[in-house]
Amino acid sequence: MSVTNEISPDTPTAWWRDAAIYQVYIRSFADGNGDGIGDLAGVRARLPYLADLGIDAIWFCPWYPSPMDDGGYDVSDFRDIEPTFGTLEEAELLIAEAHALGIRIIIDIVPNHASDEHPWFKAALAAGPGSPERERFWFRPGRGENGELPPNDWQSRFGGPAWTRVADGEWFLHLYSSRQPDFNWTNPEVHAEFLDVLKFWFDRGIDGFRIDVADGLIKDPALPDVHGATTGPLPYSDMDGVHEVYRAWRKISDSYPGERIFVGEMWLPDPIRFARYLRPDEMHSAFNFDFLSCPWEAKRLREVIQSSMDSHSLVGAPPTWVLSNHDVTRHVTRYGRSGDTGFEFADRRHGTPVDRDLGTRRARAAALLTMALPGGVYVYQGEELGLWEIEDIPDELRQDPVFERTKHADPGRDGCRVPIPWGDKKPPFSFGTGGSWLPQPQEWAGYTADAQAADPDSMLSLYRKALRIRRDEPALGDGEMSWVMSLADVIAFTRDPGFTCMVNLSSEPVPLPRHESIILASGPLRGDQLPADTAVWLRTF
Ligand code: GLC
Repeated sequence: MSVTNEISPDTPTAWWRDAAIYQVYIRSFADGNGDGIGDLAGVRARLPYLADLGIDAIWFCPWYPSPMDDGGYDVSDFRDIEPTFGTLEEAELLIAEAHALGIRIIIDIVPNHASDEHPWFKAALAAGPGSPERERFWFRPGRGENGELPPNDWQSRFGGPAWTRVADGEWFLHLYSSRQPDFNWTNPEVHAEFLDVLKFWFDRGIDGFRIDVADGLIKDPALPDVHGATTGPLPYSDMDGVHEVYRAWRKISDSYPGERIFVGEMWLPDPIRFARYLRPDEMHSAFNFDFLSCPWEAKRLREVIQSSMDSHSLVGAPPTWVLSNHDVTRHVTRYGRSGDTGFEFADRRHGTPVDRDLGTRRARAAALLTMALPGGVYVYQGEELGLWEIEDIPDELRQDPVFERTKHADPGRDGCRVPIPWGDKKPPFSFGTGGSWLPQPQEWAGYTADAQAADPDSMLSLYRKALRIRRDEPALGDGEMSWVMSLADVIAFTRDPGFTCMVNLSSEPVPLPRHESIILASGPLRGDQLPADTAVWLRTF
């Protein structure tokens, strides 16, 4: 890699407006020390693979010390590295090595809650009711004659009540697992702490933060009952006061050289409310979950694409296009299902019959669709290998707290977190030398990065070609697009200069429009026909 690709903090580029960002779930990416768990040494060893793939940045899921009740989203120290992942020193080396390869680093920040092993929570437990230590969280007496009922009717997003009672009789709030107490953002100490944490990592050279549960920080202090509501205005989601937090954060990121960014995780039903987080003095971008959740249907996808572009343009922010992440069923599986191909947390549809060849064809077409749309694109580790959801993990090996908290009604998210197959013919497929913390299927022998690198028709080769073209092609990335009139089950749009993307979501081949040449196709074409579930990039006049 030439030095001109190196990232200098002094050259603003608005890089984030169309970056291809690769998500690393560290535990499952690559194991450098043979303990069966991915780590920073593993990531460092695989940086050349990522540079070769053609991505612009890596987003790391939380890398902080954590008891791993929720895969690291239960943070016990926001200023260090989880020992099973490595050390702070190694993280600094990794940042420098990535920058030298032209790759930026985004890390997860988890401001809604801590781990119950965070020193603040331990101090809160020790200090007792009424103490300033308890004011950093949401401690309340219970209801009922002896305080034996939770303070309100809120439910944890992982199932069960959102309150847990401690030994002295008070209850504390946790929107996620009972080992993830929610911070009280009405307390100025919490604000100050996070401003300091942001600086700690910006000082170490990171290029941005992905903000976990970004809409959830502010709660209505009256803690009113919700009477079973999970949508609509909720007293713990998208409260207006949350924007003040991000305005203060933006001042910090703007005070650093280069363009340091914030990417929000907000699952919100209203695209206009969503766009408010992307106003010029708040976050830079956010995950497009409407697109991720959308079924493989032309009409619905066109509507979501248009509404994403409309809402983002209100605030001048670039949309993003996301197909999978560490919380959702992998899209090869979703798109291969009979019936509904969308995604819903409330119904993971594990066990629904899957036509994996069909899902894979669609996933290939979806990759070309996302990479041709204006804005940024996310790639979740393993999607470039065409990995699918592992639905048959034995119950006793499941680790996601969702599984237990829903009393096994929801299998949880382990199936999209199975360690990556890198090479070799049998598990752990060169993930490391010491097994893998979740079992990999033998079928992955044909899906390793090594096996695919040699095959020009593999998913990996498609991603490499597409990401490279996307980077070099003036029409792609940030900018505008125009819909092309097409058959009902076809998505077609142009981008200037001279680029057309067409995706056939019908069950029959459709004729290609007039074109000068074919740039890339997600599968074989049939003469001048685009087969079903195939996408093509065309050079047009
Ligand atoms: C986000 C994360 C998810 C985590 C939850 C609680 O939704 O993506 O993995 O469990 O927040 O932190």
